[in-house]
Amino acid sequence: MAEYGVLVHGAGWVSTEHVRAYQRNPYTEVVAISSRTRESAERLKETTGAVNAKIYTDYEQALADPNVHLVSICTPPNLHPRETILAAQAGKHILIEKAVANSREELIEMVKAVRKAGVKTVVSFVLHWNPQFMIIKRLLEQNAIGRIFYAEVDYWHHIGPHYRQYKWNVKKSVAGSSFLSAGCHAVDAIRYFVQDEIEEVMAYSNNTDRNYEYDTNVVAAVRFKGGAIGKLSSILDCRCPYAFNIDLLGERGTLRDNRIWAKDLFPGQTDWITVPTIRPDSGDVTHHPFHGEIDHFVDCVRNNVESHVSLYDAAKTHEVIYAIDESAATGKPVKVRYEASAI
Ligand SMILES: NC(=O)c1ccc[n+]([C@@H]2O[C@H](COP(=O)([O-])OP(=O)(O)OC[C@H]3O[C@@H](n4cnc5c(N)ncnc54)[C@H](OP(=O)(O)O)[C@@H]3O)[C@@H](O)[C@H]2O)c1
Repeated sequence: MAEYGVLVHGAGWVSTEHVRAYQRNPYTEVVAISSRTRESAERLKETTGAVNAKIYTDYEQALADPNVHLVSICTPPNLHPRETILAAQAGKHILIEKAVANSREELIEMVKAVRKAGVKTVVSFVLHWNPQFMIIKRLLEQNAIGRIFYAEVDYWHHIGPHYRQYKWNVKKSVAGSSFLSAGCHAVDAIRYFVQDEIEEVMAYSNNTDRNYEYDTNVVAAVRFKGGAIGKLSSILDCRCPYAFNIDLLGERGTLRDNRIWAKDLFPGQTDWITVPTIRPDSGDVTHHPFHGEIDHFVDCVRNNVESHVSLYDAAKTHEVIYAIDESAATGKPVKVRYEASAI
């Protein structure tokens, strides 16, 4: 019997990668799978070979299973607040798929429940474990480009009818907005790289897929508390392969995805230096480094430490998005209100 029993809830596309990642971790075993339908849960058990997983169609019954210590929430986003609160009340540590909450009110209730229970959380900003992300982070920690004064991060991904989550992604009540649904990865990334909080945003949007109940394409200019400025975009209706563009302009050099210009470090440099690596260039969940994220989640629980991408941190990313959505709707600049993250 492994040290930690895991419940994976919501047996859809992303859940397969969660199960596989727990199976690779030496301290965890998937002991329960719950989903809206028994068929999906059974299929997930079958395809992953999670032979010891008990099947549930009632989430609260699954949470009451004494063998369950960790929960992965893999349902559509509008369900995450209630499911997170129930898991926290049951004393389970929680990995929450993004987005965590489509409204400020729900986010506040989630943070309160997690604080009260004292359980560990990780929000699934899985690109933190992408090799290009890790290289950029390491270069920044070594001050390779100096203080960042301008940053851009773009999330461009055609989430159209060919895509499995399209049927619920088009609904505002389920997916919220372009940035909540998908561009949240870009907001998380710009905060992670600039290491400062966004103070004010000004956003514009349009819609090119009429099946969507919200604008598919949003761009936001942002200003950080420390004075840096930047741009974020979330485009769900593009005609190009998935792209996650990262541009970081520092006082001593520049990073553009996996390319660096830093003449202090490389005197005589005459062209961009490209680091061959795995880039964040696919929306396919089998390409995403879930094993890195889940190993990190388990390490946080085992060592009793808070993740750098906990619900408390992800709350700030969501609060920036609420401001972006408000700005796009009103046509006015909006100051970010850090309320949930201040609890
Ligand atoms: N971190 C990442 O990079 C990443 C990548 C992909 C997805 N995600 C996130 O992961 C979550 C799940 O996405 P997915 O692509 O796996 O979705 P999906 O394939 O549609 O799976 C969602 C599962 O949730 C269950 N469910 C329960 N109540 C539901 C309801 N009211 N409507 C629809 N499904 C319901 C369904 O179970 P039944 O089959 O039993 O009905 C379904 O299989 C989303 O929050 C998404 O944003 C994150």
